[in-house]
Amino acid sequence: MRILVTGGAGFIGSNIVDAYIDAGHEVAVIDNLSNGKEENLNPKARFYKIDIRSPEIDLVFAKEKPDILNHHAAQIDVRKSVNDPIYDAGVNVTGMIGLLQSSIKHVVKKVIFASSGGAIYGEPKVLPADEDTPLDPLAPYAASKVAGEYYLKCFGNLHGLKHTTLRYGNVYGPRQDPFGEAGVIAIFCNAMHGNKEVKIFGTGEQLRDYVYVGDVVRANVLALGRGDNEEVNIGTGIGTSVNELYARLKDIIGYQKDAVYHPPRQGELEKTYLANAKANEVLGWEPLVDIQRGLELTAEFFREKLVREKV
Ligand SMILES: NC(=O)c1ccc[n+]([C@@H]2O[C@H](COP(=O)([O-])OP(=O)(O)OC[C@H]3O[C@@H](n4cnc5c(N)ncnc54)[C@H](O)[C@@H]3O)[C@@H](O)[C@H]2O)c1
Repeated sequence: MRILVTGGAGFIGSNIVDAYIDAGHEVAVIDNLSNGKEENLNPKARFYKIDIRSPEIDLVFAKEKPDILNHHAAQIDVRKSVNDPIYDAGVNVTGMIGLLQSSIKHVVKKVIFASSGGAIYGEPKVLPADEDTPLDPLAPYAASKVAGEYYLKCFGNLHGLKHTTLRYGNVYGPRQDPFGEAGVIAIFCNAMHGNKEVKIFGTGEQLRDYVYVGDVVRANVLALGRGDNEEVNIGTGIGTSVNELYARLKDIIGYQKDAVYHPPRQGELEKTYLANAKANEVLGWEPLVDIQRGLELTAEFFREKLVREKV
């Protein structure tokens, strides 16, 4: 298949590009490198350094004629979305609409969209949260993901464009940015390997669904052929606390210091994790990497990265 991946220089997108190429697909990438990195780019993918808000994207569709649009480019910083909701919506909503318009014009068969099960349900009343949980976007970032989901449904109704929306938990693993505001595992790995202070905000008992990027990639491979017009949670069904992550990583890395606790961050959710029965039913997906193995793989990636950077 011919696949166009937006955000293909980023953490999740670049891992997906690698898997699509390994499976023999023809892949092109759009990314403006605002957060993505050139070193993540697969040399076998054609790369277009373009902003998804630019009219030039239509030329890429015309040239590449993709069968599938895999849409991972986004403004991903929740706090930035609170401070500058117009910028957030410009990328995540208007930018996405432009991609959908080009998808219709150039007869894309299906769009795979990265939504956020960790954000769009707010603080779910019933856990694990399944796909019928009422949507309760508490931040503009979450509202922009909900809007993206509805535009997909709307463009499906109007033009017959198919989609699979993947509602991820907290994705972690190799290539995650350790300097962003999210990505606690990448931040902890980097701090511990550098023997720096590890900060925990609040009690550390907040629960999240940490899903390994390799499992998320597999969902994106399965969605090429299954799950049409479905919204599907991609999570483990298990809530893990920040304190547990800290303890496991401390042990894996051999870090000696104690964590330093800071006041809770405003607006942070207490508990959220995702039911994954629907992913199994419609995609044949289940998570294969448990938290201990995923943390070991991630810690090893960051250890090697620090060694490379020192050389
Ligand atoms: N990481 C998670 O836990 C998580 C959870 C739920 C959903 N998601 C979604 O998955 C997707 C990928 O997230 P990620 O964690 O890999 O983040 P990331 O920042 O590593 O990847 C996003 C990519 O999009 C690119 N980008 C941003 N704005 C752009 C623009 N205007 N034009 C072109 N490219 C642009 C960035 O340069 C980056 O390479 C996002 O849509 C995000 O909302 C991530």
